[in-house]
Amino acid sequence: MEIVLVAAVSENGVVGKDGGVPWSYPADVDQYKETVRGHPVIVGRRTFDEMEPIEGVSHLVLTSDDSRSDSRDDVEYVSDPAEAVSLAAARDDVVYVIGGGAVYALYEPVATGARVSRIPETVEGDSFFPDLGDSWVPGETIHYDGFEVELFENRTPAAVDSLGRE
Ligand SMILES: NC(=O)c1ccc[n+]([C@@H]2O[C@H](COP(=O)([O-])OP(=O)(O)OC[C@H]3O[C@@H](n4cnc5c(N)ncnc54)[C@H](OP(=O)(O)O)[C@@H]3O)[C@@H](O)[C@H]2O)c1
Repeated sequence: MEIVLVAAVSENGVVGKDGGVPWSYPADVDQYKETVRGHPVIVGRRTFDEMEPIEGVSHLVLTSDDSRSDSRDDVEYVSDPAEAVSLAAARDDVVYVIGGGAVYALYEPVATGARVSRIPETVEGDSFFPDLGDSWVPGETIHYDGFEVELFENRTPAAVDSLGRE
């Protein structure tokens, strides 16, 4: 099972500010939606509250609030981070973790890959991309007009069932 973090990150590590993203790179949004389309995603409740569901994507929304539910077929609330991966694995052989900061940090040890859009700006923010640990190695860089996407591989991801353990 591939677990891939997908994030747009500023030069100083910011991914968000005041519940939003403090830049506008439409071409990056397009490439990110193209990447995840047709696959399940895991997304934090705070990020999901501020976004429209992506067409053709099954959204597993992480929350500690067991009372949350959604009537839409492509939205499911999940309170156990490992269960979110199991639910994704029943649908596909890849799941994309699309943020925000808390959810990137949670899944970083178990993720097998990362797809990081490098936003060439230094901005103020309150949500950050985690440091990728020593087991992560850089791969291909894809050049777009105005930004780059860097791919990373985690050579030794932790077991998914380690998620949530103290
Ligand atoms: N630049 C990018 O690529 C990008 C992508 C996505 C988001 N963002 C930005 O990131 C920011 C939001 O990030 P954030 O860190 O504040 O929030 P978040 O990661 O989107 O969501 C955090 C929420 O996820 C749930 N959660 C987290 N860990 C959990 C666990 N172990 N078990 C159960 N539920 C858990 C909790 O929901 P409950 O509170 O409901 O329990 C928590 O409040 C926004 O500014 C957004 O725009 C940026």
